[in-house]
Amino acid sequence: AQYTQEIQESSLTNAAEIEAFRLKFLVSKGIVKSLFEEFKSVSSEEKRTLGKVLNEFKILAETTLQHAIDTVGDAADSQEKAFDGDLTLPGEGFQLGSRHPLSLVRKEIVEIFKKLGFIVAEGPEIEDDWHNFSALNFPPEHPARDMQDTFFIKKQDGNDIALRTHTSSVQVRLMQAGQPPFRAIMPGRVFRNEAISARAHCFFHQVEGLYVDENVSFADLKQTLFHFVQELYGEGTKVRFRPSYFPFTEPSAEMDISCTICKGKGCQLCKNSGWVEILGCGMVDPNVLENCGIDSKKYSGFAFGMGIERITNLKYEIRDLRLFSENDTRFLSQFETEI
Ligand code: PHE
Repeated sequence: AQYTQEIQESSLTNAAEIEAFRLKFLVSKGIVKSLFEEFKSVSSEEKRTLGKVLNEFKILAETTLQHAIDTVGDAADSQEKAFDGDLTLPGEGFQLGSRHPLSLVRKEIVEIFKKLGFIVAEGPEIEDDWHNFSALNFPPEHPARDMQDTFFIKKQDGNDIALRTHTSSVQVRLMQAGQPPFRAIMPGRVFRNEAISARAHCFFHQVEGLYVDENVSFADLKQTLFHFVQELYGEGTKVRFRPSYFPFTEPSAEMDISCTICKGKGCQLCKNSGWVEILGCGMVDPNVLENCGIDSKKYSGFAFGMGIERITNLKYEIRDLRLFSENDTRFLSQFETEI
């Protein structure tokens, strides 16, 4: 009688309640089954009355369960039927983001050099003084260290830890790890302690290149970079080399290209000169080769380094460096989407 009342008062309004009810009453170890087990041990006189009650109880439990299943199922059905949208309409598409312009240009640069047999090498953004400066022929206390304002992280007995100021540190790591020939480019983020403005930022991206083998000459350097520029900015782009200074290359040069905006006629970007500077380069100083365990009598090499931001500015006529790191989607969505 107690269970009969419980069943009559039970409210089964969702799938979880229905399942709990079934587990309590109707499985093989459930209440209905166990009452039938007990029934076997009562006297045959009691069996007559109890048998009827038990059967009614079993039917009550089963019909209650079935009824609950039907009504809850119906409710779900009628919810489905309530949707009266047009199922033949096309779905709403995903809004795809676009590639960051710096990623697009980096990829383009990497593709051009890959075809020339250059591999991609990477290294840590946090470097020690030796990899960033000393191995690259920057003597201690030498004013050339001031060419790049450095973020120092930790003083450490003559080998301070800093954020790398250029990816030339990866050239050192590459050369230390093996023997020539080396033909690699090193894309990566670099850091300099500069006030942020339209023309300078405290971090930017570089791609540096290194080619070391027997008999590598300045002619190889010029032809490689000339080819690169034709691929990136189109046939007919002119180049010129101006003598320059870097501690790790001798001789050193800066390379200009004919202005990509005015095609050399003179405009605001090139200050009417018709030329814009895009990279630094030179023949790897023999001291650097020796510092990295490479025989400078046997091998020679060239190196170059460019800022991806600058290359991108010239390609897309972007005039403010800060746009690259502000994540303004009005700027970013103008670039191509790649899946
Ligand atoms: N490391 C130089 C810079 O960051 C660029 C460079 C690389 C110059 C290789 C010459 C050779 O300014």
